[in-house]
Amino acid sequence: MMIQMIPAEIQDYAESFTSEENEILRELRRKTYGERDDKSMLSGFYQGRLLSMFSRMIEPKRILEIGTYMGYSALCLAEGLHDDGKIITLDVDKETNEIAKEFWAMTPHYPRIEAFLGEATHIIPTLNETFDLVFIDADKPNYSNYFDLVFPKLRIGGIILADNVLWSGRVLNAANEDENTKALHAFNQKIQADSRVSNILLAVRDGLMVIRKERD
Ligand SMILES: C[S@@+](CC[C@H](N)C(=O)[O-])C[C@H]1O[C@@H](n2cnc3c(N)ncnc32)[C@H](O)[C@@H]1O
Repeated sequence: MMIQMIPAEIQDYAESFTSEENEILRELRRKTYGERDDKSMLSGFYQGRLLSMFSRMIEPKRILEIGTYMGYSALCLAEGLHDDGKIITLDVDKETNEIAKEFWAMTPHYPRIEAFLGEATHIIPTLNETFDLVFIDADKPNYSNYFDLVFPKLRIGGIILADNVLWSGRVLNAANEDENTKALHAFNQKIQADSRVSNILLAVRDGLMVIRKERD
């Protein structure tokens, strides 16, 4: 269960001054919150609008998403795609992938979303693309591996976003915590020590690390 890091009334105020999402995204959230025990995995409205805003600012031709789940964040990211852009999204879960595809099919973005099923660490090395934007949002112990695998495929000036890097605040005491917490803290330390990037850890929702590739 994710803790609320920003006071609820401040969060509500911020959301009330944030552009609306479209009806399909709203319905996908309703379905996820109503039917799924693992619903906390969904990015949610506020982070979804932030992902959309990043994507609109970058206007990427190639996006890689690691962790599709119900397809919500992929649709948010797709909103900023360049006219001839596409998003590749990876997941191991066939069931959620089918639901994602049903919802994508209701949008004009569908032809520009390519979903691959399988272990992301196996698929990424096979992708012959140069990415402008990458969203890391899958299994936490692999975050550092995902960074190492995508870094050579990211253009200079490209952006990596990594979700859940505050892990409900547990990273503050990572030495005494579980494998996921230790991995996320190690990832944050690795990024901070990497002279090839500039980065800012946004204390939004569960923590979003924003990383810009400055050099190879
Ligand atoms: C937090 S959810 C993604 C949420 C989604 N990005 C969103 O914001 O709505 C994480 C997803 O990563 C997937 N996943 C976990 N381990 C994976 C792996 N080794 N390779 C690919 N996907 C994985 C899970 O099946 C799950 O659907």
